[in-house]
Amino acid sequence: MPEVAMSRTIRISRQGPIKGSVNVPGDKSISHRVAMLASVAQGTSRVEGFASSADCWATVGCVRELGIPVERDGEALLIHGRGLKGYDPPSGKAVLDAGNSGSTIRMISGLLAAQGFTSIIDGDESLRRRPMGRIIEPLSAMGGHIRARDGRFAPLEIQGRPLKAIDFSSPVASAQVKTCALFAGLYADGTTTFVEPSPSRNHTELMLGEFGARLKSSHAGGKPILSVEGGAELRPVYYRVPGDFSSAAFFIAAATLLPGSELVVRRVSLNPSRTAFIEVLNGLGGNITRENAETVHGEAVGDLRIRSGRLNSGPDGALLSGGIIANLIDEVPILAVLGTQVEGRFEIRGARELRVKESDRITTVVRAIRAMRGEIEEFEDGFAVEGPQRLRGAAIETSGDHRIAMAFSVAGLLAEGSTDIIDADCASVSFPEFYDLLASLTGESAIEA
Ligand code: S3P
Repeated sequence: MPEVAMSRTIRISRQGPIKGSVNVPGDKSISHRVAMLASVAQGTSRVEGFASSADCWATVGCVRELGIPVERDGEALLIHGRGLKGYDPPSGKAVLDAGNSGSTIRMISGLLAAQGFTSIIDGDESLRRRPMGRIIEPLSAMGGHIRARDGRFAPLEIQGRPLKAIDFSSPVASAQVKTCALFAGLYADGTTTFVEPSPSRNHTELMLGEFGARLKSSHAGGKPILSVEGGAELRPVYYRVPGDFSSAAFFIAAATLLPGSELVVRRVSLNPSRTAFIEVLNGLGGNITRENAETVHGEAVGDLRIRSGRLNSGPDGALLSGGIIANLIDEVPILAVLGTQVEGRFEIRGARELRVKESDRITTVVRAIRAMRGEIEEFEDGFAVEGPQRLRGAAIETSGDHRIAMAFSVAGLLAEGSTDIIDADCASVSFPEFYDLLASLTGESAIEA
C-alpha cells in the first residue's frame, strides 16, 4: 500500500502588528534553472541557498534519475554535471517525476529533447491538467519528437533527436516556455531565436550568461527577442541563490495590512521582472522600501523594509492588465486578498493564464473570498473587488494549491474569528517553512496545527 500523506488543517486567527525580520527560502525559479543548467555543464557547480521548495527537489530528483550526482556539502549543493549530452537514460522503465512542478516538466523537456535516448516525464493530478502544447510546439518545430496524452497533456514521452535552430514567436508570455526553447537551443545547429509577446521573468537569460552560453537579447516593438547559439559546452558555476520574492510577497502583504507592523525581509531577489507587486502596493499607499541593494550573478538582490499602510485606489479605482500581469502572475492570489482591503475598486484583467496554474486560480480565489463572506466579481480573465471589506473566518479549500493556502493564511490574520486552511501542507510546494515563519512573527497564538 502506498503511504498516504496526511495534510494538516491549520487554524489562523486575527492578529495585531508583526515586527521583526525574516529570511525567505531560496528563489524557486532560479533554483530550478541552476539545477538544470549545472546538470548539463561540464564539471561541478556549487549552489548556495538552493530552494527548500518541493518543486525544486522534484527537479533535483529528475537530474539524479538521469545519472547526475547531486550531493549536499553543508548548506550547499554540489551538482556534478557531465556536459550537454551527459545524461544517462533513466534506469529500466523509470518515469521522471515532476510532481506538482510545471517549471520542472516544461523546462527540462528542452534538455531531454536533444539527448540520445527516450524519456518519459509525468507529474501529479494537477500537473496532468496543465497545458503542454505550448512547449511541444517549439520543440517539434526544432525537430523534437514528443508524444503527449491527448496531444497536449502529461505524461510526455520525449524521444531525443538532433535539433535544428528555429525562429519562434511565442503566443504566450511564459518564462517556462522561453526557457524550454532556449535550453533546446543550446543543442541546436545554429542560432535559435525566441520572441516573446511581452516580457516574462528573465532569470534564464541572466543565468545562461553565467554558464558561458552565447546569448543575445534585444527588443523590437516592445517584444523581447532572445537568441542562443547551439553547440557550446557550459562551464560550471559557483552560485548564491537569493530569497524568493514570490514567497516574500505573503509577508509583505501581512505587514502592509496589519496596522503598526514593521518587517524586514532580508536578501531577497529584487529582479525587476518579478517585483511589480512592490510598485503596485506603493502606488496604492503601501510603504515598502529597498535597502542594501546589490547585483549578484546579474540578479538584483536586497532587503525590503515594509511598514503598514492604508491602501486606497483613488476615485477611478485601480486596474491591472496587459504586460504587468506576467510580472506579478504568482502574486495574484495575495493581490486578491490585499484588494479586499483597498479603499475603492481594485481590478485585475488579462490574467486568463491563472486558469491553468496549479489550480484554476481565478475560481479558487473567488470561492475563498466568498467563503470569507467577501464580495468579488469574477471575469473569465480576472476579478474585481471593492473595499475595504470585513472578512470573516471560514474553512478555505486550497485545491492543493500552495499560493492559495498562503494567501488565505494572510487573509486569516485579518478576518474576524478563525480561518481553517484545509490541506495546508501544500504550501511546501514552494515554501515548507511558511507556517513556522508566520508563527515566529505572530506568536503561536495566531496559528494552530
Ligand atoms: C515560472 C514562470 C511562471 C510562474 C511560475 C514560475 C518560471 O509560469 O507562474 O511559478 O520559473 O519560469 P509561466 O511561465 O507559465 O508563466
